[in-house]
Amino acid sequence: MRSLVFLAAIGLTAAEDGLNAWLRYARIDGARGYHNKLPSAIVTLNATQGSPIQTAVNELVQGIDGIFGKKVAVTGADKRHRPMTAATVGTVHAFVDSNPGAANDLPELVEDGFYLKVSRGNVLILGQNERGTLYGAFHYLSLLAQGNVSDFSLASNPDAPIRWVNQWDNMQDGGTHGSVERGYGGDSIFFWDGKVREDLTRAAQYARLLASIGINAVVVNNVNADAKTLTEENMDGLARIADVFRPYGVQLGLSLNFASPQTLGGLPTFDPLDETVISWWRGITDSLYRRIPDMAGYLVKANSEGQPGPMTYNRTLADGANLFARALKPHGGIILFRAFVYDHRSLNQTLDWKADRANAAVHYFDGLDDQFDDNVVIQIKYGPIDFQVREPVSPLFAHLIKTGTAIELQISQEYLGQQAHLVYLAPMWKEILSFDLRVDDQPSPVSSILNGKRFGRKLGGYAGVANVGTNTTWLGSHLAMSNLYAYGRLAWGPASSLSAEGILQEWIKLTFSSDRKVLDVITRMSMASWPAYENYTGNLGIQTLTDILLGHYGPNPASQDGNPWGQWTRADADSIGMDRTVWNGTGFAGQYPPSLAAQYEKPDTTPDNLLLWFHHVPYTHRLRGSNKTVIQHFYDAHYAGSATAQTFPALWRSLRGRKGVDRERYEHVLFRLTYQAGHALVWRDSINTFYFNKSGIADELGRVNNNKYRIEAEDMQLDGYVPYAVSPFEAASGSRCVVTSRGNGTDARGEMRTVLPGWVKTGRYDVAVNYYDMAIGNSTWELWIDDRLVGNWKGDLEYILGKAPSPYIDGQTATRVTFEGVKIRKGSVLRIVGTPDGLEPAPVDYVSILPEGLSSGVKHFLIRRENIVLKSSVDGFTDSSCGSRASVLMF
Ligand code: GCU
Repeated sequence: MRSLVFLAAIGLTAAEDGLNAWLRYARIDGARGYHNKLPSAIVTLNATQGSPIQTAVNELVQGIDGIFGKKVAVTGADKRHRPMTAATVGTVHAFVDSNPGAANDLPELVEDGFYLKVSRGNVLILGQNERGTLYGAFHYLSLLAQGNVSDFSLASNPDAPIRWVNQWDNMQDGGTHGSVERGYGGDSIFFWDGKVREDLTRAAQYARLLASIGINAVVVNNVNADAKTLTEENMDGLARIADVFRPYGVQLGLSLNFASPQTLGGLPTFDPLDETVISWWRGITDSLYRRIPDMAGYLVKANSEGQPGPMTYNRTLADGANLFARALKPHGGIILFRAFVYDHRSLNQTLDWKADRANAAVHYFDGLDDQFDDNVVIQIKYGPIDFQVREPVSPLFAHLIKTGTAIELQISQEYLGQQAHLVYLAPMWKEILSFDLRVDDQPSPVSSILNGKRFGRKLGGYAGVANVGTNTTWLGSHLAMSNLYAYGRLAWGPASSLSAEGILQEWIKLTFSSDRKVLDVITRMSMASWPAYENYTGNLGIQTLTDILLGHYGPNPASQDGNPWGQWTRADADSIGMDRTVWNGTGFAGQYPPSLAAQYEKPDTTPDNLLLWFHHVPYTHRLRGSNKTVIQHFYDAHYAGSATAQTFPALWRSLRGRKGVDRERYEHVLFRLTYQAGHALVWRDSINTFYFNKSGIADELGRVNNNKYRIEAEDMQLDGYVPYAVSPFEAASGSRCVVTSRGNGTDARGEMRTVLPGWVKTGRYDVAVNYYDMAIGNSTWELWIDDRLVGNWKGDLEYILGKAPSPYIDGQTATRVTFEGVKIRKGSVLRIVGTPDGLEPAPVDYVSILPEGLSSGVKHFLIRRENIVLKSSVDGFTDSSCGSRASVLMF
């Protein structure tokens, strides 16, 4: 039990579970003082029951009450009692109907846009359509919740019409009911047991959150779609989801399985040009629209990772996409057809230096640009491979000129720490969206391609793979929700003056509070998080280096090569990187418009952060920027990135008791940041050891494999424990750990003990234990110094973190617990007692006896930035029962 008794006494604000995310409408300081600047009534122009305008009104009533404690009355335009201040809410159309003279004073709005005017308590909230009105209301409330009650007027239009999220929810998947593929926040909020859930409360709450950030559609089921989604019963269920979305202006979209006419419909074929197939899809589509007249459309993954598609019948991808486009056309629906098309069975790197999965999208789509119907949009992942920590922008955006495109971003952090690591992604997305693809040597930022302006197209936009689940935090982590928020804000205005940091600060104010320290600390951690993660995972464009075969989570660089998935590094003893040049490599660089292609063709014009994406170079190759060798850059980056992560728990602790940081969320976040700090070290050591071993080149600073404060478990005196060779070897310090050897249960407990070495003088230390928490049992461990129990912990992370579970002793399960400020005497005996459980043999890798403060990175941090906040954060946390600091209890 990870209880935090010590928090009880320190007056944290009321517990929150995250369900309301940034829509908490929490009371702001000095609320009463603002009452006369707020409307006293809400005048509705054209609110019909269940419409987004009605929702806008309800939100305004609830929000103004929550934020300021002011009750506002709701009245129709005809019943308005003057001279009250009022918020007038409705569509432009309705407003002009009742105020014909006003038309000329109103700004131009596009679909979903809104106009907002605030003047001494009188507020005008007008939408271009009903949904736009709701967006305007949410925008006004957001400003109020951030303490902004000043007069202003604003016309806001979305940059692009498609602002969707994708959910990879399974109705039923091999016995896993309602799971979410690459989801780390619990089960599906839509499906259970092969059906649509009866209770769709969470679906409605989700729609509310999404509407507040301008998202207008949700594709509710996995791109690896199940044909059974289209049974009559399930279509009825989908209609119920659409019903709970509708008051929020959120439309329903559906992923389809290309082979459904055969697997569900019983036809002998699913050939897209076959008449019976065409009419089967038409029938299904009509039947869906009868139930859901405002359905947004379809999403299709075809001929990818084993999914069926038109190429099964030697038809083109355009034949496949148009099949759906034509069925949707009479209903006004659109089809998002994915560009994530590749054949993993054809990739064999050992035989072919020129094989490259990155080439696939352009390869398959080239020549088809003028063949897609006008309601087809090609949905393209931001990079040519798959949501890595750093990829160049997909060159396909520069190839489709006539066809609408949408960018696919991943809010769910599949390769980026699975919400167990804080990684704020808006800086990456901003970089991608502003990247200039130089089509025809003209300015061509990605966002201008998506909004259709660059090539004069109507349809385009954004698809964010969100994968929220039933966890009350939605994504499994409170801090990860900044990514969902930022996604919506960027999809609405990618090129707006709002920076990634500005968006983040809005989110912090809404989610926690406007307290300066809260803003400062969460901003600092979040803004440092993507660079840190890139540093401690995969640098220089080599990709994330996660275990590609299992889980996509922890380090396993060897798994990247010798597999059919094509996320290769081609690392050998001398050199590393994918040669994607035209002159000697896979030719991928040549897929970019000429000026970029020329830049990427040569190592000395390629940006350092993409060097290994485009080039195969010796480890001794020197970088343009720093003049460091590639290998030294790896070493340094991994030390730097993991050191940054060490500062996160202490930074967060400095927010204990601050406004908006309630006990429940404080505890939840601290636990994760502490875990992240430990796992960042696992990453650092795994990657550095792996490449040191591969290249044989030592770290110039002598750090790699030279861990001054470390005592290996296998070097201790073992009783009931035996050494175990870990695979991959780099996932264990010294390539071995220890595991219990006497089977199961309390009788099977084992012990390791050692007299602490001579360099451990009498004093206080941070004692860290690296161990493995596999998903096949809940072992327990105790750490003793002499006859004193320093602390104990349980291997149940699999129930706490939503990350992919692993049954192995590897980089996914390696983790660390730290006990701060532990009193040790010279010559003390350290013991760890481990009790196995299930199939988990209480594995331990090593123990570190660290000078106090080193584990939290606080000293390191204080040297680099004199931060007064931090000083207080490490003081005064003594827990009397074991004489160590509070974070002991966190783990
Ligand atoms: C990744 C991911 C899969 C997903 C696929 C896709 O490969 O790991 O789970 O199905 O992307 O986007 O289709």
